[in-house]
Amino acid sequence: MNKLLVATGGGDCPGLNAVLRALVKAAKTAGDWEVWGSLEAFNGLLDDPVELVKLTPKRVAGIHVKGGTIIKTTNRGNPIAYPIEQPDGSIELVDRSEEMIDKLQALGFAAVINIGGDGSQRISQHLYERGCPIIGVPKTIDNDLGATDYSFGFSTAVQIATDCFDKLVTTAESHHRVMIMEVMGRDAGWIALHTAVAGGAEICLIPEIPYSVEKIKAMIDKRYRKGKGFMNIVIAEGAMAMDGHVFGEKPTDIGDSHLKLGGVCNLLRYQLEQMGCIPQIRTTVLGHIQRGGTPIAFDRILATVMGVKAFSMIQQGQFGEMVSFRNNSFTSVPLAEAILHNNNVAPDHALVEAARAIGISFGD
Ligand code: F6P
Repeated sequence: MNKLLVATGGGDCPGLNAVLRALVKAAKTAGDWEVWGSLEAFNGLLDDPVELVKLTPKRVAGIHVKGGTIIKTTNRGNPIAYPIEQPDGSIELVDRSEEMIDKLQALGFAAVINIGGDGSQRISQHLYERGCPIIGVPKTIDNDLGATDYSFGFSTAVQIATDCFDKLVTTAESHHRVMIMEVMGRDAGWIALHTAVAGGAEICLIPEIPYSVEKIKAMIDKRYRKGKGFMNIVIAEGAMAMDGHVFGEKPTDIGDSHLKLGGVCNLLRYQLEQMGCIPQIRTTVLGHIQRGGTPIAFDRILATVMGVKAFSMIQQGQFGEMVSFRNNSFTSVPLAEAILHNNNVAPDHALVEAARAIGISFGD
C-alpha cells in the first residue's frame, strides 16, 4: 500500500474538507493508496511525537458540507522558517525542510499534497526543489493566486459578503445612513469588487485603485443634496488611499509575517466625519465570518474536482505541480509558475468597467 500525506496550511477556507473527502474517496477507488493527514499544516509531521491521522472513508464521510478543515491549520507552520525558542527566550527561524523530508521517507510516505495559498505553495516549491514528491492544491478566499482562475472558498466568501451587504442596505435606507462594509482579500480587491456588483454598492474601494477621501465626501454630499439619501460602500481591508497608506498592524504572532489588516472602514468613517460629513456613518467589519461555515455548491464542486485531480496527478507522478482551474477546465501548472505572480484586479478589468458603467465609483 502506498502512503500519501496531506496538509492544509494558512487561513482556513470553505471547501478544504471537500478536497480531503474527494482525495480519500479517489484513493479508495484506486485501491492502492492510503491517505494520512498532518495536523496543523506540516507541524503534525515536525512534532515529536508526530501528529498524523489516517483519513479513512468513514472519517471523511459527509464532511464536504462542513466549513474549516478537519485536520486543522495554522499560519505558523512554515517548515522553512520554523520558529524555535532559544535558551535566552528569543525566537530563531530555522529551516527544517531537510529534516521533514527525511521524516517523510522514514515514515514511508511516497507523496505529499499541500493544500494552501501562495505562502503554502512557496513552501511546496521549496520542498520539491529538495526532492520532496509534492503537489499543490490552490486554496484562498481572496482569489489572489495567479495560476488559477478560481479557487474554492472565494465564491462562498462573496456570497456571505453579499448576504450581509443586502441586510445593510435595508437598514441604511431606513435611517438615511452611510454604511461602510469592510471585506477581506488582503492585497486583492476581488471579494470587494464582486460584492459591490452583486449587491449594488454606490462606492467600492479596492487596493488596486487608490481612493480619495475628498472625492468620497463629495459623492456623499451630492447624493444627499437630492434629499434624504442613503449610501452603501464596500471597502476591501487592504484598500489604499491616494497617499499610498494601507491600514494595518504589525504581526504579533511568532512565525507570522503578514500585516494584520482590518479596521480601515473605521479610519474612513473618522476621516469623513472630520471633513464635516453630515449623514450618520456606521461601519461593519465582516472579518472571519467570510471564511466560516458551509461552502456553497459551486465551491463544493470545485473542491471535489480539485481533490480528484490532485490524486490523479499523484498517480501519474506529476510532482512539483499545482492543480489549476483555467479557461473552464481542470489542468495543472508548475509550482514555480504558480508562485510567480499574484492575481490582482487590473484597473481595466471587465468587471471594473462594468461596475463603472452601472455607476459604481471607486473613489478615484
Ligand atoms: O488570506 C485569507 C485571509 O482571510 C485574508 O483575507 C485575511 O487578511 C487573512 O487571511 C486573515 O488571516 P488570519 O487568519 O491571520 O486572521
